[in-house]
Amino acid sequence: MSALRFVVNGSEVELEGVPPLRRLSTVLRDDLGLRGTKVGCEAGDCGACCVLLDGEVVNSCTVPVGRMEGRLVETIEGLDASGEIGLLQQSFLQHGAAQCGICTPGMVVAAAALLRVNSSPGEGEVLNALAGVLCRCTGYRKIIDAVVSAPVVEPEPVVPPPGKAVGRRVVRVDGLPKVRGTDVFGADAVPDGALVARVVRSPFHRARFRFGDLEAYMSANPGISGVFTSADIPGRNRFGVIPHMADQPVLAEGEARFRGEAVALVVGQPEAMEYLDLDAVPVTWEDLPAVMTPEEALEAGAPRLHEEREGNVLIRGLVQRGNLDEGFRAADHVVEAEFETGFIEHAYIEPEAGFATRVGDRLEIHATTQTPHMDRTEVAAILDLDPNAVRIVPTAVGGGFGGKLDLSIQPLIGLAAWKLRRPVRITYTRPESMMSTTKRHPSKLRARIGATAAGKLTSMDFTAMFNTGAYASWGPTVANRVPVHAGGPYVYDAYRARTVAVHTHCLPAGAFRGFGVPQANIALECLLDELADSVGIDRLEFRLANALTVGKPTVTGQVFEAGVGFRDCLEALRPHWDRARAAVFEFNANGHPTRRRGVGVAGLWYGCGNTALPNPSTIKVGLREDGRIVLYQGAVDIGQGANTVIAQICADAVGVRLDAVVLVGADTDTTPDAGKTSASRQTYVSGNAAFLAGRDLRSRILAMAGASDDAHIALDGSTLVLHDRGEAKPLELGMLSSRSDGLVAVAHATYDPPTTPLDENGQGAPYAVYGFGAQLTELEVDLELGTTRLLRITAAHDVGRAVNPTLVEGQIQGGIAQGIGLGLMEEYLPGRNDNLHDYLIPTIGDVPEVVSILVESNDPLGPYGAKGIGEHTMIPTAPSILNAIRDAIGAAVRRLPATPGRVLEAIRSTSPARVS
Ligand code: FES
Ligand code: FES
Repeated sequence: MSALRFVVNGSEVELEGVPPLRRLSTVLRDDLGLRGTKVGCEAGDCGACCVLLDGEVVNSCTVPVGRMEGRLVETIEGLDASGEIGLLQQSFLQHGAAQCGICTPGMVVAAAALLRVNSSPGEGEVLNALAGVLCRCTGYRKIIDAVVSAPVVEPEPVVPPPGKAVGRRVVRVDGLPKVRGTDVFGADAVPDGALVARVVRSPFHRARFRFGDLEAYMSANPGISGVFTSADIPGRNRFGVIPHMADQPVLAEGEARFRGEAVALVVGQPEAMEYLDLDAVPVTWEDLPAVMTPEEALEAGAPRLHEEREGNVLIRGLVQRGNLDEGFRAADHVVEAEFETGFIEHAYIEPEAGFATRVGDRLEIHATTQTPHMDRTEVAAILDLDPNAVRIVPTAVGGGFGGKLDLSIQPLIGLAAWKLRRPVRITYTRPESMMSTTKRHPSKLRARIGATAAGKLTSMDFTAMFNTGAYASWGPTVANRVPVHAGGPYVYDAYRARTVAVHTHCLPAGAFRGFGVPQANIALECLLDELADSVGIDRLEFRLANALTVGKPTVTGQVFEAGVGFRDCLEALRPHWDRARAAVFEFNANGHPTRRRGVGVAGLWYGCGNTALPNPSTIKVGLREDGRIVLYQGAVDIGQGANTVIAQICADAVGVRLDAVVLVGADTDTTPDAGKTSASRQTYVSGNAAFLAGRDLRSRILAMAGASDDAHIALDGSTLVLHDRGEAKPLELGMLSSRSDGLVAVAHATYDPPTTPLDENGQGAPYAVYGFGAQLTELEVDLELGTTRLLRITAAHDVGRAVNPTLVEGQIQGGIAQGIGLGLMEEYLPGRNDNLHDYLIPTIGDVPEVVSILVESNDPLGPYGAKGIGEHTMIPTAPSILNAIRDAIGAAVRRLPATPGRVLEAIRSTSPARVS
């Protein structure tokens, strides 16, 4: 094999002995160490690996290095070093265009290519230039704004004065590495000499299996260092996010319960593993009859997935209040219908990745995760280690959305590294990420809702059956959260919501932005439109008339005295609703005969944090002898902005400038347990812990100098000056006795939301804080093709207090993009679309203009009044789209996604909701 020569970022490289079919992306990352080029699919679908090849944007994963002779490559590192993209990077930071950051290098490279040929592009040109790069976090709008504004970006904004960070549009404190491509994601951290692991998975939905002679297999493959099966697991071969329901084996024992389930781990030298044929591992499979739907699984005689779970029922949920019969008797109008949704894939651009290494008698795992402390507990149990012998260090997380709450790679690489005493790394391929990790629960939803002739809601009866897949995962959480939320932020005389989660031989359904509430909200909000029409009241007015307010009981009997901003959200939409409705009538009267416009609205509420369970978060903060405030922030930032928001809260609580705060990121050895990044809890729960810790540290600092509570803290290197009632009191921090960690003062605080358990009827206070919102969709349907074109989405959300409005808007736009996917295009079919080519997520051209309206109800329990926002934002999107489609075509789509075929079917159907 002759040497290959080509130019990378202006320097000639010469490669000997590289297989010509090796991907350029692999060569850049593994052979040249240029890990700013990211990999999300290795199939040309995601664009994360974009580089410039002879000046043109290409997906480097589709370029065989054998074709590189004499060519010129530019990567994010080269563009960064040359200074060419300085303004673009600044614009990305100021617009909040990078959330998790895994897509950002690809976006920046593609945008740089555009700016070379067009120094002031318009939106249409940006859409074309970035069409090949997927982002799952941002909803693209801020990326578009960043690129359009790059040529005229303003200088870096001034850091807010001490105590004034909350409420300001400060740039992400962790943003710079994202726009430079230097953030270290799971696949970017590669220790010297690391072995590579790959997983043998079941090719059948249900199969019995047995291994052949693994010793002989290893002898025949000298590059392989070990093959591990369930027999090698020293501890408990079970994991699960709800400890007493843990039921999922790390490596299956004798029978695989879903297609893609791990049965063995093969570990070896990187060269041996690169083209290893996993089908050659000696496994004999016996394909067994499988149950793939809850209906099949509930049948008498259906195979039982877990012996102790009769009828394959994992769990049932219930909330009921009032007399349902009386409620429906009082109703003059009743609507009823069934809705159905499928599996939805998280489609984070970063597949699961990381490495493990044994350090003496301890195990370190560096991996992409949303929940380091829970990982530590589970890995320790699996490997029969003391939890203190396990250290989990989250890498940068390239999107999670709930899909990185469950264990995936951690016990696999942990097992291999522990046994082999060598570092072991793994990166899931896109297909194995999709086939083996959790999904949004498929659901069958039935709702019946009644109202009086005057338009007052009387009653709602709701049932949901969820396909929870082979293992428990977050099924119980979904089944318990949904009954609380299925009625939405409305007031009923009588209410009943029942749920059941049923095991099937599908991959486990788990947590995904909203824990089942986005599905339930579809049934509610679509039927509310039909009920409003039946009563003869404007659809927005109908919601306003029945909206939950302070002083009225929720469906669990909870009464709030403040912090209920739902009516304000609906009122904020009113001018947009009136304008859009008028435009629709105009267009439908005079427009193109084959296209009709529609407008839809939908509301939401969502409880922040765990449902009726303890949910504590602990934050530590200290004053270091060099005059910096050190924030030990264990709440993993998966792109949503926890690092920045919690730092803003902490800085204001201490009373210092934000740039005085130094962040110590999540690490189970150094940061206290801030709980999971899930359930929209970090701003509210960890934010409160940061507030309390910050106030405590401030008190300690003031006490050190005998200053009053009103004193201003000024930090100037290692000198701290307290300005107190006209007097300046300096403190030389270096003179104070310090601890081994360099801190001269330290504070810890824990916050746990005040909730109560629910009784047998689901009554109680399951959440201390709810967020509220409403969205309005304007769209156009082609009556001949069934296609839907979104025109604009207006979103009003009660966020309590917008700690960082730019980040809140980013959450709104990103949630809406995922809601568009749920509503119009996404459905994961086990075994049929394990890739980002066949599984479609919204691209930059699919997300319309988004108008964000931030409603601040100033929650009495939130830090500076703030609530969570992460999950709320996608909950009303799909029903508002469905309602707009119904508005346009006069018929309802009840099976999601509303693909052109289903829209056409609805147009041709004559089966509206039964109305009496
Ligand atoms: S990694 Fe190359 S397109 Fe996805
Ligand atoms: S910021 Fe684009 S995928 Fe996360």
